[in-house]
Amino acid sequence: MSKVKPYKNSDLGKKEQVTQMFDNISGDYDGLNRVISFGIDIKWRKRVVEIVKKSNPDTVLDIATGTGDLAINLAETNATKIVGLDISSGMLEIGKQKINKKSLESKIEMVLGDSENMPFEDDSFDAITVAFGVRNFETLENGLKEIYRVLKPHGTFVILETSVPTKTPFKQGYKFYTKNILPLIGKAFSKDRSAYKYLSDSASVFPYGEALNNILRNIGFINVEDFPQTFGVATIYKSSK
Ligand SMILES: C[S@@+](CC[C@H](N)C(=O)[O-])C[C@H]1O[C@@H](n2cnc3c(N)ncnc32)[C@H](O)[C@@H]1O
Repeated sequence: MSKVKPYKNSDLGKKEQVTQMFDNISGDYDGLNRVISFGIDIKWRKRVVEIVKKSNPDTVLDIATGTGDLAINLAETNATKIVGLDISSGMLEIGKQKINKKSLESKIEMVLGDSENMPFEDDSFDAITVAFGVRNFETLENGLKEIYRVLKPHGTFVILETSVPTKTPFKQGYKFYTKNILPLIGKAFSKDRSAYKYLSDSASVFPYGEALNNILRNIGFINVEDFPQTFGVATIYKSSK
């Protein structure tokens, strides 16, 4: 898999560039998310919560939590502790404000950290989620190995990530949208134009469906299943340890 990075003229590694990019766009992120996905991202995160709910976890880790939308949605489970981890302090700051507004500080803790080297003991969490995060990891396998390490045996791991529709006419429609419409939205709404180019470029090369299932199996995850959403523009992956 080629390593798509946000900024062409930067010598920084992918991790540093991704951190810088999300710090830059943190103030625009929630609004842009709604526009880009026509608001469907809200429904997808709700589906992730439904899957997590079934395993009745006490502790949940939401990796690449960003501005905390999934962590906040997870507060409706019976979990007593939800930890949101992210490498961008800018994204976390917006998330903390949302959590405070909803008086969820006692349930949700926001932690600054790297998914590829997490500050948690082995076998710490009953469930782990990542929404639109794995695509941004510097090294996907390292991030997934860390997730496997901190997930409890029999724990539930759920990924929500962009994917690419394979059926006509959705395949063509998706290509047109990401090539022609998405950059215009990025230009119109965000100060950081490369960010939105990066988001669509990285989506087009990221493994999805059976390819990602196999990567998860190679790490050691079991009972791996994928559930394409909305013509396959996103996919939910459920697995266990
Ligand atoms: C597209 S946002 C997704 C945010 C949120 N999960 C959502 O559903 O809206 C991706 C997030 O991944 C974070 N991220 C990227 N690489 C990371 C890493 N190595 N460790 C932790 N977070 C990372 C970014 O800072 C960013 O907040």
